[in-house]
Amino acid sequence: MKAYLTRRYMFSASHRLHSGAMPDEENAVIYGKCNNPYGHGHNYAIEVTVSGPVDESTGMVCNLADLDGFVRHAVLDRFDRQNLNMLAEFAAMVPTTEALSAVIYDILQRGFSHAHLEKVRIEETMMNSFEYAGGAEMRR
Ligand code: NI
Repeated sequence: MKAYLTRRYMFSASHRLHSGAMPDEENAVIYGKCNNPYGHGHNYAIEVTVSGPVDESTGMVCNLADLDGFVRHAVLDRFDRQNLNMLAEFAAMVPTTEALSAVIYDILQRGFSHAHLEKVRIEETMMNSFEYAGGAEMRR
């Protein structure tokens, strides 16, 4: 019996959408207001979905305390109240929420061993959300 578990977390961070590989004018056209030199903030809501067989004795896919502990330490403590542009992960990648989803997915994929990681979904605003479920495709 396989089940899915989704848990929601919140953190706040700032970012500026700007690519060092493009001239300033092109950045301004592509990213519009999000290219504002001083950046802007979001209250991100992350949803982490894991799956696995339901344990016969506990009735659970994994212990929520294990998932919470891992996400708190490896994700929330790292990203909360940060300027995403300043983090090593985004030294060569524009900190869009597509990219943030992939970065957080990779952290979980590498370090969380209590259940199978299915996907990471991030709500950037009330009106948009992004999901990443693995896969290395990048459009060039
Ligand atoms: Ni933004």
